[in-house]
Formats: sequence, C-alpha cells, structure tokens
Amino acid sequence: MRTVDLIQRKRNGEELSPEEIRWLVDSYTRGEIPDYQVAAFLMAVYFQNMTDHEVGAMVDAMIDSGERIDLSSIPGPKVDKHSTGGVGDKTSLIAGPLAAAAGVKVPMLSGRALGHTGGTLDKLESIPGLRTNLSIDEFREVLARVGFAVIGQSESVAPADGKLYALRDATATVESPALIAASIMSKKLAVTLDGLVLDVKVGAGAFMKRQVDARRLAQMMVAIARRRDLRAQALITDMNQPLGRAIGNALEIMEVSQVLLNSGPEDLTQISLELAARMIFLGKITETLEEARDLATRLLVERLGFMKFQEMIAAQGGDPRVLDRFDLLPNAQHSYEIVSPRSGFVAAIDAEEIGRASAMLGAGRKTKEDSIDPAVGVFLEVKVGARVEEGNVLCRIHYNDTEGLQDAIDRIEDAFRISSTEPEPRDLILEVVG
Ligand code: URA
Repeated sequence: MRTVDLIQRKRNGEELSPEEIRWLVDSYTRGEIPDYQVAAFLMAVYFQNMTDHEVGAMVDAMIDSGERIDLSSIPGPKVDKHSTGGVGDKTSLIAGPLAAAAGVKVPMLSGRALGHTGGTLDKLESIPGLRTNLSIDEFREVLARVGFAVIGQSESVAPADGKLYALRDATATVESPALIAASIMSKKLAVTLDGLVLDVKVGAGAFMKRQVDARRLAQMMVAIARRRDLRAQALITDMNQPLGRAIGNALEIMEVSQVLLNSGPEDLTQISLELAARMIFLGKITETLEEARDLATRLLVERLGFMKFQEMIAAQGGDPRVLDRFDLLPNAQHSYEIVSPRSGFVAAIDAEEIGRASAMLGAGRKTKEDSIDPAVGVFLEVKVGARVEEGNVLCRIHYNDTEGLQDAIDRIEDAFRISSTEPEPRDLILEVVG
C-alpha cells in the first residue's frame, strides 16, 4: 500500500477498507509514515468525513495499537465518562468522585488540552506531586482501593491516539466528528467497561457549533459502544459560555473543590450531578435514574464526593490538602481586571475566545512539545444574564508572563457582549442520546 494513494482516495471522497485504515494507523504509530502525509490524510477526512464503517475500523486499529486494560478482576460496575471538550469543563473531576462514592468503579482515561479546550490530565497535574502516568498495575490498584483513578493514553494504551491527537491539534483538524469519535472511543474501549457516559458539547466554545452536528457525533459514539455491547448514553450540553467561572488548570481545581463542597456555580453543579447520576444508573447502583439523581445529590451535600476526590489525589501521589488550602496550588503572580464598558446585561461570553485567551496566557500548548503554566487563566466575576454597571469587573485575568497578555486582553474584551435587553435563559442540557 502507498500512503499517497490512500490520501488521494480519501480526498476524492472514496471509502477506505478496514485493512487500508488499519495499515495507515499501524504504520503511523510505528513511525513509518511521516507527519506531513498523515496531516494531509487528516485534512482529507476533515473535508470528506468518514463512513460509520471507516470510523469503526479506525477505532479498532487505534485500540489495537496498544494494550487493553482488563479490569475483570476488580469487583463492581466499571463506568467511565468523557467530554468532547469545552472551556471551563471540569465535570469529570466532580462526576467521577461522586459516582465512585456511590460504589461505581470509575477507571478514567482522560485527555490533555486540545485546541482552545482544556484537558482533565493537565488540570489534575496542577496538583503538586500528582501523577497521571501510572503504570497499568498502579492504575488497577488505585481503582480497586479508591474506586476512582485517572490516567491518559500512553505508549502502552492507545498510543495511536496520542500521536494523532497531537498532530490534529497542530494541523487544524480537531473539529472532525469522525476523528473526535475515533479518538474518544479508542481510549474508552481500551478498558473493559460496563457503562459509558458521554458529554457532547455544542456551541461557541465547543468543537461542534451546531446541535445537528453534536447529535450526529453523539449517535456515532453511542452506536460504536453498542456494537461492542457497551451501554452508553450521551448528553448534549450547552457550551456557549464557559462552564462555571474558572478557566485554567489550578483555578479549575479550586472550583472543583467548591462544587464538591456544594458551594460552586449552579451550571457546573447541575451538569456534574446529572452526569454522576447517569454513571450511577448505568452502573446499576440504583434501579431508576430518579434514585440515582437523589443519591448523587445526597453524596454531594454530605461531602462524600469531596472526600473521595481527596482519597484519589493522595493515591496518585498528590497533596490532598490542596482542596482546602488553595495556597498550596500554583497561584499566578499578577492579575488584571476587565471591566464593563457600559451598563446593561451580559448577553454573551464567547467561550472559544476565552479558551483561546487562556491558552495564550500559557494554560494551553502552542505546539505538542510546549509545557503549560498551571497557575494562569481567567476567572469570570459575572455569567450570562447578570446585570452590570459601567466599570463593574467582568473577569480577572491571572497571569505570570506579559507575553501574549495584550492579545488575551483584547480577545476577552471582545468575548463579552453587553446589551440593554436581558437575554432569555438557555437550557443547559439540550438532549439525551442513547
Ligand atoms: N477528547 C478526546 O479524547 N479526543 C478528541 O478528539 C476530542 C475530545
């Protein structure tokens, strides 16, 4: 086979066979095809899309690029959760501990910051000492003991996703439903699971800008899971404004702590509770979804999710005191206030612009080799619908380095729309698929 022929056929909108897709994924993972050819292939997929058959073949090849993690020796239902990516989206670190506190085993295979969106692994690594590069045996041990463990794809688990993820990020090919579905499902299916809850984001700060595309992505992932006898449900949720108030790695850990103490922002609490309830229900801890919702709420109010997160942090080598003592987390040296240019209502806060600004400050990566600054980010003092007077603080930028600061300020100022009319409230959870 020749890579150039496969690129050409995909570019022309033809369907590739499972053998051709497997050859491409395997050869790329082994370093036998250069980045520039795979970048061209990804761009062809971006424009021509892939059939369900092709996506299924890509998922299989990506899983087989590494080891499968067998968890059958660990008692209890195993349910994972994954988001397609958002700004300020820290729900995994709230829903995961709540579901684990209910008795679900949550083996989480998470991602890093991608494009303008944040990544669960980067957020967790802002906790001093915490390791996400556990060996598979360590991962099993933490899962069996604590009920919640988080790692990423690695040299041994779904290595193809690691290479493709970084290349997509650097070649503007992230926003392809087929590639997102293959990336997420190859990680999730590398682990033996009993259930999977997906949060498909839609809106200005999501990769899917239109609900019809988000629905299609949700259906594609649920169908991939079903074909492998895995129960999966997807929520389609609003990502027009950032979720919660904190954007940036350590800032988001602080907000996770507040939500788990039942004093966090309402939107973030609502979505996290619904995701946790669905994990509990798919894990068959309760008979009905209503009971699962009640249980998730009780665990939040009784702070059992908070304690579970502390246990997990300690088990993965981190300092669990960070959840009570934010001074133990990385804190930025400087802050800058963005104020409202006029009186009125906050009509929109463009999540993508805020995500890009935060990445520019150092919370995200410009290239796959970049390191990130865990302390920097943006904290929203207002959310959509708030009444503000001229000069009121809209948000605070937390920064260490002035490089990129002015660009970030400009983007954040543009992200806020202040209007004389009060905006209609929007639903947060728009649809359920599966
Ligand atoms: N999360 C992933 O793991 N992969 C994507 O492509 C998008 C979000």
